[in-house]
Amino acid sequence: MSSSISAFQPLTSQAITMALCTKTLGRSLHVIEDTPSTNSTAMSLAQDGAPDGTVVVADAQTSGRGRLGRPWYSPPGRNLYCSIILRRAMPSDQVSRWLSWVPLLSAVAVARAIQVTSGLRPSLKWPNDILIEQRKVGGLLCESSGMATANSFVIVGIGLNVNMWRDAFPADLRDLATSLAAEAGRPFDRAVLLAALLSELDLRYEAFLSGTTDIQQEYELRCATIGQRVRVGIDTESDCIEGQAVSIGEDGSLQVMVDNPQDPFTRRTPIAIRAGDVVHVRNNNFKL
Ligand code: BTN
Repeated sequence: MSSSISAFQPLTSQAITMALCTKTLGRSLHVIEDTPSTNSTAMSLAQDGAPDGTVVVADAQTSGRGRLGRPWYSPPGRNLYCSIILRRAMPSDQVSRWLSWVPLLSAVAVARAIQVTSGLRPSLKWPNDILIEQRKVGGLLCESSGMATANSFVIVGIGLNVNMWRDAFPADLRDLATSLAAEAGRPFDRAVLLAALLSELDLRYEAFLSGTTDIQQEYELRCATIGQRVRVGIDTESDCIEGQAVSIGEDGSLQVMVDNPQDPFTRRTPIAIRAGDVVHVRNNNFKL
């Protein structure tokens, strides 16, 4: 990879702001060299009253966090680690739908941003892993203020592997993870990518709030989990189910027809998975 282009420049507020075309997202912008986790930084800012659309982006994270308590590999200078604060006053009966769909619509936005920036076509593994050719290129960790109230906020944390060669990943990730540069054969300008990501999120989020998009259908069209045999860890390794993922529910849940259900009702009706660790089962091997 050539190091002469802006792909390897440090992420600066100026570079991001120049590329930004959103009204709200990223207009309050915190660009930091390193932090334990941009989600933790954004959570503190949100609790102190930071406005809707505030973005925290770091060049490196020292304790980057993934879903289900896993670490997120966050070396400096290569990737995108950012967290977006979304907060909106709304009737309390709409909050839980909002909390369910924000992670999924954000995943669609990240996939779209990758597509418009690179020409690659990522798919999604439910709920919000971003895949290219069955390898993980990014993931989202959404955290909320806790109680579903009219003053709720969500932190949308996005980690995207951008300019890493595959052999730069730790050995345990090498077969599972990839980066945009590894897939496209060229590096990417992280500021331009972040601006595209915020723009795609802005579009989908506003369309979702105004009811002018069928986000359920848009998500399903991107979702590589639909049609797959899946193994879902509910709580513990021993507490899991297997079956066929058939669709996405109105609440964003993964609908699974389970194998050999005990209960006659579940023989004809899919069960709704709202959280948990989903593994795509292929040829009796567990991957991703
Ligand atoms: C996953 O797939 O497990 C989710 C990964 C989310 C990582 C991002 S990086 C920015 C933000 N800060 C964190 O500590 N985590 C998220």
